[in-house]
Amino acid sequence: MQHISVVGAGTMGNGIAHTFAQFGFDVALIDVDAAALVRALAAISNNLDRQVKKETITEADKQRTLGRITTYTALADGITDADIVVEAATENEAIKLRLFGELDGLCAKHTILASNTSSISITKIASATRRADRVIGMHFMNPVPVMKLVEVIKGYHTSENTTRSVVALSQRLDKTPVEVNDYPGFVANRILMPMINEAIYALYEGVADARAIDTVMKLGMAHPMGPLQLADFIGLDVCLAILRVLHEGFGHPKYAPCPLLVNMVAAGTLGKKSGRGFYDY
Ligand SMILES: NC(=O)c1ccc[n+]([C@@H]2O[C@H](COP(=O)([O-])OP(=O)(O)OC[C@H]3O[C@@H](n4cnc5c(N)ncnc54)[C@H](O)[C@@H]3O)[C@@H](O)[C@H]2O)c1
Repeated sequence: MQHISVVGAGTMGNGIAHTFAQFGFDVALIDVDAAALVRALAAISNNLDRQVKKETITEADKQRTLGRITTYTALADGITDADIVVEAATENEAIKLRLFGELDGLCAKHTILASNTSSISITKIASATRRADRVIGMHFMNPVPVMKLVEVIKGYHTSENTTRSVVALSQRLDKTPVEVNDYPGFVANRILMPMINEAIYALYEGVADARAIDTVMKLGMAHPMGPLQLADFIGLDVCLAILRVLHEGFGHPKYAPCPLLVNMVAAGTLGKKSGRGFYDY
């Protein structure tokens, strides 16, 4: 595998493109929004500058990395050489189903179609294609150049060959791939989101204030960041959407989102990106 197409140039797409290019792959970065591509290249350049400053890469490495990324606004133009497409478009089922249907029609037969989705069923996404054996989840963590994990999600029909290819590819990026099966929330969010929800319940029920709850988890459990601060960083709307996927997918009341979370999202208090969440930014 040498040619990688990344669809979606937002927070995750720019990190994924950066990482592949840094490890010598040719990257086509595609977004329907031309301005998002401009922002993505600027973000990648800034993040590479940070690596140069830390002396983990040289200025020449930075230039080589940027030189390996080409941007496109049309899907058909950006996927012509792709050995694998990593989709990191907006987390919306209708968008992903339409995209995978289009990708299936446009891509070469051998091309693997991977999704970076946090919560949408890989099996469902694969059903929009006629190559369900070559559809897989490749769930990177934010920030992608820094975080070691790739959660590799095997859909119902994902073949052993496809899984092996994506595991090997992740290792070439100096990441640690972990294989999981396709059930709601996979592993990462199935465990993380109920913890965040429980922290919100503790706040809602007046067990302690936000700072106290986060301090207990930071100093007591050696978490680098407390669950309420982490929720603010992820976005409370994103947390709520993932909890709804867990609640609906398992039909178990233990996943029901805390009413305080529901209220904060309705009020537009979405965390860091809105300037206010459990903390002020
Ligand atoms: N942000 C995170 O921390 C995080 C972590 C892990 C996984 N994810 C997943 O990664 C994916 C992307 O998330 P994000 O936070 O980068 O979103 P984002 O909103 O920052 O970026 C999404 C980009 O996709 C583009 N897009 C939308 N429809 C498109 C289409 N049809 N073709 C091409 N581009 C299209 C948008 O213009 C936008 O630039 C989601 O599936 C999300 O669940 C996010």
